[in-house]
Amino acid sequence: MAELAVGHAETVEVPDLASCPTLVPAAPNIAAAPDAPAGELLGGGATRLGHYALLHELGRGGMSVVYAAYDEKLDRKVAIKVLHARGDPWAQRRLLREAQALAQLSHSNVVQIYEIGDLDGQAFLAMEFIDGITLRRWCSEQPRSRAELLAVFTAAGRGLAAAHVKGLIHRDFKPDNVMIHRDGRVLVTDFGLVRGAGPNESLRISASSGVLQMASPRSAR
Ligand SMILES: Nc1ncnc2c1ncn2[C@@H]1O[C@H](COP(=O)(O)OP(=O)(O)O)[C@@H](O)[C@H]1O
Ligand SMILES: [Mg+2]
Repeated sequence: MAELAVGHAETVEVPDLASCPTLVPAAPNIAAAPDAPAGELLGGGATRLGHYALLHELGRGGMSVVYAAYDEKLDRKVAIKVLHARGDPWAQRRLLREAQALAQLSHSNVVQIYEIGDLDGQAFLAMEFIDGITLRRWCSEQPRSRAELLAVFTAAGRGLAAAHVKGLIHRDFKPDNVMIHRDGRVLVTDFGLVRGAGPNESLRISASSGVLQMASPRSAR
């Protein structure tokens, strides 16, 4: 075990990930993400946000919907996260915090942010499009070998450890917030409940933050 500084007075015990063997399954063996019907994208049927043309829904969580989109300026596919609640100041603050946290991170196991924007009151976050499936779906699709599980969870742990090095606690780590790319890469996503580990920031999980069953014993205390 290694001790990792996550704040001024805080240290967290983490396994020494450097000594973990990197067990990448030879063939990731995942199906393509299903394309949800485009339907009516965004309120009022809008199908674009500035230079992003929205293509179809990729998934949704408690706070937001994520769409596949085409960035017409940079000629590439991206993922656009928009909030369920338009104009909710609390949710907008969380989205900004998520964006700022992601902007501090550059790691192969953390989704990459491109920009945060606001168009006609619609706050959004543009990020790397992950052509893959959530860890939840990957686990339920078929039985996974011990080596596969170890490889995937170790990779996700590396992403979390990279955040800890920057003093960031994810606080909502669960199978819906980890994605496995078709090329085998494992990426931690959804830093919507992220916290810095400064002296004024409580690490306790409250009823409104994170899923208690998925929280570490330390943070759930
Ligand atoms: N960068 C991405 N590329 C592809 N799909 C994504 C991406 N980010 C999120 N998703 C999909 O959207 C879902 C919701 O995104 P998430 O950020 O977890 O939203 P919430 O904060 O509402 O929980 C995820 O479970 C996943 O299926
Ligand atoms: Mg989520």
